[in-house]
Amino acid sequence: MADRNSAGYHAGKEAAGKSAADLVEDGMIVGLGTGSTTAYTIKEIGKRVKEGLDILAVVTSYQSEMLAIEAGIPLTSLAEHSLLDIAIDGADQVNFDLDAIKGGGAAHTREKIVALSAKRFIIVADDSKYVKELEMPVPIEVLPCACKLVQKQIADLGGNAVIRAASKKDGPVITDNGNFILDADFGKIKNPEELSSDLSKCVGLVEHGIFTNVDEVYIGDLDGNIKVLKK
Ligand code: A5P
Repeated sequence: MADRNSAGYHAGKEAAGKSAADLVEDGMIVGLGTGSTTAYTIKEIGKRVKEGLDILAVVTSYQSEMLAIEAGIPLTSLAEHSLLDIAIDGADQVNFDLDAIKGGGAAHTREKIVALSAKRFIIVADDSKYVKELEMPVPIEVLPCACKLVQKQIADLGGNAVIRAASKKDGPVITDNGNFILDADFGKIKNPEELSSDLSKCVGLVEHGIFTNVDEVYIGDLDGNIKVLKK
């Protein structure tokens, strides 16, 4: 997690991440997202658990699992609790209609499973993520053997997909599920719902990072102010 002195620190992330932790109540089953913003949420929920908050949580990645264990949050699984009361997660971009792009941390497949298992799905983000139109490359998890085929199907949809590498000299990023990530550039995404549906039809594609089921967004700015946006 970024601390106040690190290059990745953004007061908006801390404010948004912490404020959404207040939505968690006794008895809830809670989905915990992945990334530097939800790391603040997890830490804050952990504090409340130490003070007596009685919850169970489902994680979205090994990263959030380690943070939750460190914070002392008792964990469960979707096999045991298939319906969550709330899921709180970060995002890479959110548009004015509250559609989001996720997967900058390569965790969007499990994040989407958890988000769609929740009665209420909350995004926490700093204000740099809030944009009129989604336009960043869409992260796409693919089976390694299907990489070329998925790249071709994405090209047929008008996109340009490249394999995400850990660094220039390293091999591909490997997800928690043992797959590769493609970053698919479609330019400005005019109709996220339609692109989401088209991508879901691609053979060999495990999951893409367009989320159209966001209920609320907590946006934090550099001064630590919060804006809450609802669908
Ligand atoms: C993980 O795959 C992503 O979906 C993250 O939720 C997203 O990248 C947000 O990350 P930060 O909170 O670190 O900006």
